[in-house]
Amino acid sequence: MTKKICVLPGDGIGPEITAQAVRVLEALGVGLEMETALLGGAAVDACGDPYPETTRKLAEEADAVLLGAVGGPKWDALPREQRPERGLLGIRKHLGLFANLRPVALYPELVNASTLKAEVVAGLDILIVRELTGDIYFGQPRGIENRNGERFAFNTMHYTEMEIRRIGRVAFEAARRRNGKLCSVDKMNVLETTQLWRDVMNEIAPEYPDVALSHMLVDNAAMQLVRAPRQFDVIVTGNMFGDILSDEASMLTGSIGMLPSASLDENGKGLYEPSHGSAPDIAGQGVANPLATILSAAMMLRYTFDLEEAARKVEGAVGKVLAKGFRTGDIFEPGMIKAGTAQMGDAVLEALE
Ligand code: IPM
Ligand code: MG
Repeated sequence: MTKKICVLPGDGIGPEITAQAVRVLEALGVGLEMETALLGGAAVDACGDPYPETTRKLAEEADAVLLGAVGGPKWDALPREQRPERGLLGIRKHLGLFANLRPVALYPELVNASTLKAEVVAGLDILIVRELTGDIYFGQPRGIENRNGERFAFNTMHYTEMEIRRIGRVAFEAARRRNGKLCSVDKMNVLETTQLWRDVMNEIAPEYPDVALSHMLVDNAAMQLVRAPRQFDVIVTGNMFGDILSDEASMLTGSIGMLPSASLDENGKGLYEPSHGSAPDIAGQGVANPLATILSAAMMLRYTFDLEEAARKVEGAVGKVLAKGFRTGDIFEPGMIKAGTAQMGDAVLEALE
């Protein structure tokens, strides 16, 4: 088979980390063709548009997209339409990537890299299912205006029943394949949008009698994630709460540099990217952790290409590399082998064989 991957290195550490994931994908010899395009600040610099037409076309034609990260202080002062983040939100919306899967699993070797006590996080394995194309992120109207002689800013939070139902189904299906527990996170005591969220989750629950559905308010969920994170199996939540909770949850594993993600449409096409950002402070130094991107490539093999064996091979290789003691700066502990981005890639390639 020849499958096409659109590679979007993006900004900051993006090019360094995607390069390592591309090496891993190529080494597997499973017939993947890769083509690179611009997204984010790199695209703004080249043509003034964070999601240019050429990239749109390539992304649309490809079977999957591999993305590094976008953004950086260099572009923060630009008008909102030209900010790198618009490119990322643009491609998510354009490709209909409504289901964002963010697995938060702790490698046993990294139990001491977490800021939480080992006995709280050992064995942690959570999946956060974040709705990705709705909510206050995309709601209209939005803006900053002058009203009655002062500046006035507004955003709109909304969800349709359909949007909630389709992400709910993804989450129930995932829980069914894991430990059968689904916690839906909302703020129904204050927000109507999330009252509908809770109602729809309850309505589809009878279709999944093998899954135990519970509900939690988002403030409590934020607290429970650091108090007793192992109570969770699958968490499903809206776009904004999911953004915040997934960053919080990532730190349970020691570093956000370890967390992959998949953003899927209704047909299994996906965009795969690390959950972390472009880390402009360490960009270009060859020290960034490429493992989240390599693990995102593994998710691509699993979800878009149905190559479960290859996916496990990559995940297994990452485990071996950690067991051998290789660590990038973000997960370094005394006594381990300090590795740069490319060395980490080398180690994964070697462990693949
Ligand atoms: C993420 C990021 C993005 C988001 C930003 C870069 C727009 O934080 O993927 O979590 O808020 O979705
Ligand atoms: Mg985020």
